[in-house]
Amino acid sequence: MADEQRSVTQVTKAIIPVAGLGTRFLPATKSTPKEMLPIVDKPAIQYVVEEAVSAGLDDVLMITGRNKRSIEDHFDRAYELEEALRVKADIDRLNSVRESSDLAQVHYVRQGEPRGLGHAVLCGAAHVGGEPFAVLLGDDLIGARETLLKRMIEVRQTYGGSVIALMEVEPEQVSLYGCAAIRPTDEPDVVTVTDLVEKPPVDQAPSRWAIIGRYICDPGIFDVLRKTPPGRGGEIQLTDALRELARRGPAEGGPVHGVLFRGQRYDTGNKVDYLRTVVEFACERPDLAEEFLPWLRDFLARHEAGSTR
Ligand code: G1P
Repeated sequence: MADEQRSVTQVTKAIIPVAGLGTRFLPATKSTPKEMLPIVDKPAIQYVVEEAVSAGLDDVLMITGRNKRSIEDHFDRAYELEEALRVKADIDRLNSVRESSDLAQVHYVRQGEPRGLGHAVLCGAAHVGGEPFAVLLGDDLIGARETLLKRMIEVRQTYGGSVIALMEVEPEQVSLYGCAAIRPTDEPDVVTVTDLVEKPPVDQAPSRWAIIGRYICDPGIFDVLRKTPPGRGGEIQLTDALRELARRGPAEGGPVHGVLFRGQRYDTGNKVDYLRTVVEFACERPDLAEEFLPWLRDFLARHEAGSTR
């Protein structure tokens, strides 16, 4: 990236926590990280790295744990495979194999103990140093045409502090997310965050605006995380540290703003949403849709009629 561009964006690093056990997808995730489950023909984690790179963040730090080696292999060169494809002159597949290793500078730090998302982010402190940085959670995929992360970086440039992505969800869904109390700004897609609660019961939720897994964090968050006690589920929560920053002025790492996102987001964190994501991505793929969509329509018609066998 050119120097002048770097000084405009300032945010150049992304943290992607991938240490989770993926218990919701057992037994598939017994020996395969959930981040490596394919969305059509690419592992979910690659879409997340592509999103970071397209927002100008080509320094990616993954916070990993045991059983995650295949993620490292995926973003590394695969000489034997590449050679075999080269000998067969299978250029398309060769390019697809090279793509993931050429994408970004990917670094790895191990979390060691599963002490929560806030703790995972804190494991990136030495790598990130004193710069603002992005956090991308792998369970949330953002449509490839969206510019959410770029917009969040812009908002950080304008207002300083930290920035979270917010999406309006149904009341019965708020207990699955970090939830924000917000105040409007002069910009229709930007709000000031006045409070945050991690996974509140519906009757205690400050709004229906939920944190989706994209953050731009001020480096001041590391000091706060070091002092943040375990919160919901006995884990050190990123939401709790951001809540603290939301109360602070610019000299102390605050404030926190939210970008209201109304675009395409796909959840891959549970089985039904994962299946939806795979089907939607397949229907958007020009090389697959022509064959897949008519089959899907026919399957549904047969299903309605009770004769899918
Ligand atoms: C995490 C965060 C939560 C956020 C969510 C977005 O929860 O703790 O605040 O709303 O990601 O996907 P998780 O789903 O990892 O339990």
